[in-house]
Amino acid sequence: MAPYTNGVRGIVLAGGSGSRLHPITRAVSKQLLPIYDKPMVYYPLSTLMLCGLRQILLITTPHDQAAFVRLLGDGSQLGLEISYVTQAHPNGLAQALILGEEFLRGDKCALILGDNLFYGPGLGTHLRRHVDVEGALIFAYPVADPSAYGVVTFDDGGRVTSIEEKPTAPQSHFAVPGIYFYDERASAFARQLTPSARGELEITALNNAYLARGELRAEVLSRATTWLDTGTHESLYEAGGLIRTLQHRNGMRIGDVEQIARDQGWI
Ligand code: TTP
Repeated sequence: MAPYTNGVRGIVLAGGSGSRLHPITRAVSKQLLPIYDKPMVYYPLSTLMLCGLRQILLITTPHDQAAFVRLLGDGSQLGLEISYVTQAHPNGLAQALILGEEFLRGDKCALILGDNLFYGPGLGTHLRRHVDVEGALIFAYPVADPSAYGVVTFDDGGRVTSIEEKPTAPQSHFAVPGIYFYDERASAFARQLTPSARGELEITALNNAYLARGELRAEVLSRATTWLDTGTHESLYEAGGLIRTLQHRNGMRIGDVEQIARDQGWI
């Protein structure tokens, strides 16, 4: 059996309003929409599994929770322990750490956004090496136009020097993808945040709490890694095509949670 990472728990944040995918998401959770042959949530879930995490919390809206339970149940069929909690309103990504406080029981965690898809050779090994953090670790992914994302700058040692949410004049080409590793203090820090101008507990504010203590590091995700935010019609369509092409071309399965559970020896 592949060793799993003890003392670190995983959170998939799969609530939100999905307004960029209206009208589809008026009736269906974005994270249940198909990306080629699987529901979207399989992809972030599989990324946490590749980190070696088996205790998973799935955060959904109240009205979508039952559908996720139908899909994934208690996770035992995948060798996982899946728990659920609802987020009444989309009050921001950092709220996940508050909603997840009881589930975390003082453990460390990896938080992944339910609409973020990662794929790449060696990704699991890379993530697994870093998931047991002191302080916090975010990732830096080079993109042509980072202004739509959190943008990070860091020194040669990977110590973060600045992180800005959707800056008009980005200070680097490194966007922050939707996977974050935190030590035991994340919930406590999240509780101290105040809502931003748009009324959300921002993940950048939580990361800045670690930055202010000199405890935020960034790890570059190589260009060989594919990172997609699948929250728009264009990106959803593209992601489906990409998964189809990759699976057809090399015969490998991407985001296949059952296969990963088997490979890890969990089932
Ligand atoms: P976003 O894509 O930023 O927001 P959204 O899903 O509501 O979509 P839109 O921008 O089109 O309105 O959210 C990123 C991920 O985080 C996505 O998987 C939904 C999730 N999310 C929550 O679960 N709760 C929240 O409060 C927010 C803001 C997002």
